This record gives sequence, structure tokens and C-alpha cells, in this order.
Amino acid sequence: MAREPGFDTLAIHAGAQPDPATGARITPIYQSTAFVFDDVDHAASLFGLQAFGNIYTRITNPTTAVLEERVAALEGGTAALAAASGHAAQLLIMHALMQPGDEFVAARKLYGGSINQFGQSFKSFDWHVKWAEGQTPADFEAQITAKTKAIFIESLANPGGVVMDINGIAEVARKHHIPLIVDNTMATPYLCRPIEHGADIVVESATKFLGGHGNSMGGIIVDGGTFDWGKDDRFPILTEPRPEYADMVLYETFGNFAFAIACRVLGLRDLGPAISPFNAFQIITGIETLGLRMQRHCDNAQKVAEYLDGHDKVDWVSYAGLPNDPHHKLQQHYMPKGAGSVFSFGLKGGYQAGIDLVSNLEIFSHLANLGDTRSLIIHPASTTHRQLDVEQQKAAGAGPDVVRISIGIEDADDLIADLDQAMKQLK
Ligand SMILES: Cc1ncc(COP(=O)(O)O)c(C=O)c1O
Repeated sequence: MAREPGFDTLAIHAGAQPDPATGARITPIYQSTAFVFDDVDHAASLFGLQAFGNIYTRITNPTTAVLEERVAALEGGTAALAAASGHAAQLLIMHALMQPGDEFVAARKLYGGSINQFGQSFKSFDWHVKWAEGQTPADFEAQITAKTKAIFIESLANPGGVVMDINGIAEVARKHHIPLIVDNTMATPYLCRPIEHGADIVVESATKFLGGHGNSMGGIIVDGGTFDWGKDDRFPILTEPRPEYADMVLYETFGNFAFAIACRVLGLRDLGPAISPFNAFQIITGIETLGLRMQRHCDNAQKVAEYLDGHDKVDWVSYAGLPNDPHHKLQQHYMPKGAGSVFSFGLKGGYQAGIDLVSNLEIFSHLANLGDTRSLIIHPASTTHRQLDVEQQKAAGAGPDVVRISIGIEDADDLIADLDQAMKQLK
């Protein structure tokens, strides 16, 4: 092709071709656990990592491979691998980077589940998170020690409103020779491609906007191909000979996609959180309309944020698309097409107003998810954060007055009318 294909063309075509066996135009769901070898030599070369091919769906699968190639193309990486969920993808990344006793630095403004995973469960692997106290590059640099093996941020932080200075933080990571991992779940590659801004590894919960329809769990890791693993001996999984693969050194053999290989042939192989081919199929289908959906999500969210910003029962709105928002400048720089679909706002009526609002709505669904075609709403203080006391809730950005919404792709006027009738009922 003479031209470089654009985003929407890649979203529909990257990684896929008519099925060579049947001519099927849509990628089939290869719901097969294992794959027959051509002969004994072929089997040996697959097991020895001398040839690429399918052995067993825990490690590779032809349906999943299309999803992987497509997201790698959209993010501008060298390779990708899918996992059972976003959290599984995060686990695979850290498994490839961290040794017992190691540390990584993470932003405090993260999805609550990631805060739990990093702060609680990773401790039992003897992997330790150090939280950056603010959002500036200097805040991240201040937490780096000789044991630091990665920096982790979200490009557009859940629950919205916060846009990170990816370039600035990438500079700190480069200076200390540490990979920068960016969770791009909320922005998706349609709004922001973190590798172009200096990220080395991108991770996404495909459960959200990539799949986009609230029907399939999945996660994805994209190798930016940018990090020099061989520069020192701090990443032994990539630089030490692997006895099970005839003493192969992964970074020497696989070069700029060695990280993705390590996550697959060690992480997926031994930890096992593979995505099901059916879910991979659903997410591939979702990605075909990613550009259309994301633009509509953002346009609708902008209108709803402006409506709420002017409402006399609303105390504050945290949405980077609003010109007065403290993150508006960063949003204009890193994601000029829109500020995403998820954001939070505060109700003057506090806790009671929060639970009344979610009860009064008719189009919005009251549940704990985001990135669906449907508009979703949650009052964290009475649900996801109810076990915390009020001070802890406030520290987590989930005070009694806070409501979080994920704006869908319905008609914006209907969403505003629904919010308006629900607001009118508040005392
Ligand atoms: C920003 C972000 N990262 C990671 C995850 C975890 O993804 P999953 O639920 O697919 O494990 C989520 C889930 O909400 C998320 O919002």
C-alpha cells in the first residue's frame, strides 16, 4: 500500500485476513485448546522458540493473535499479547520486570483496583510499590531508588479528569534507565498513543473501551520496542540464559519485541491467565468501531460535563475537557480529540443526594464498570468505597458527595434530560 493506513483502517484490518482454510471474512473463533504439529521437527522448533506457531491456547491462539496484532498496530508498538483481564496483564508485566525485594513507582491517581493490586497483593510476591505524592515528573523521580524497576501511570487517570505529563515522566524514566508503563485504558489509542510520548510498555483493560460493549473481560500488553534491556543486568528475565530454551537470552534473540516474548513464554506459560478465544473475538469486533465510538463518547461527555458544570445542585465537575479544569492544557496536548468519557462530579446534597440521584435515573445503569456503549453511574461512597471511613473515602477521591459517570454513545440530549429529571427530584 502506498499510503500509511489511518487509525480507522487499522482498527478494521490490522492483523486479519480472510481465513486461509475456509475463506471466512471475519476472524473465526478458534475454540481449540491445542494445535496439531506438522511433524516431529516442527514440534521441536515450536517448543524451542525457533519457530512461531501455535502449541496450546494458554500461550498462543490464532484468534487472539489477530487481537494482539491489531492493538500493537493501533498503539504503534512492536508486538502485543493479550491476557484474561487488565489486572492479569499488569501481573504479567511485573512478573517479567521484578525480582523479590524490587520496587516500582506508581501514580496515586489510579484505578482503585490497581491500587489494591499494587499495594496489597504484589506485597506477597515481595514487589513493593512506592507512590508518587503528586503528578509532576519530580514527584516520580523523588521515589526512585536503586531497586526501582519501573514507573507506572495511567495516561488519563480513572476516574477521569487527570491527564498525566507522559513526556516529562518518560524523561525521568530514561534518565534512570527504567521502563515507563502507561495504562491507556481510559484514553485508548484513539485519543492518545503513549509510545509516541516516550512510554516503553502500554497496558490496557480491553474489558473497557476496546471491547466497548460491556460483554467481555480482557487485557493487553503492548511492547513499545524502545527499551534497551541489555544495557545492564537489572532485568535478569530478559538478559540471563533460559535453561528451558537451550540457554537462549531473550533480549539477544528477540530484540525489540523481547519484552512481549518474555511475558508470553514465561508469564502466560507459568502464571496462566490466558484470554478465551471467544472474548478475543468479541474484543476484535469491538475495536472495529473504536474510533467512531470514542469520538461519540467524548462529544457526549463534553456536553454532559458542561450541563453539570452549570447546574445549581452540583458543587464541582472534574473533567479535563472543561476550559477551567486544571488538566485542560495537558488534555489539549496529549489527547486533543477529547477528554474521554469517564469523570466525576460532586453534589451539594452530599451522600443522600448521591444515592437519590443514582436511584432516580432511568437511562443510566447503576453499576461498577465503565467504557460501555451504555451510560453508567456509580456513587462510590455507598458501593465500591463503602468499607472506608469518610476521611479515607475523601483521600481516595470518593467522598460522600462524589458521583462517577461513564458516558455512553446514546443521544446526548436524552442523557441530559435523564440527568435533569433525576436532579429535579433531589431535595
Ligand atoms: C484504568 C484501569 N486499568 C485497569 C483495570 C483493570 O482491568 P480489568 O477489570 O479488565 O481487570 C481497570 C478496570 O476498571 C481500569 O479502569
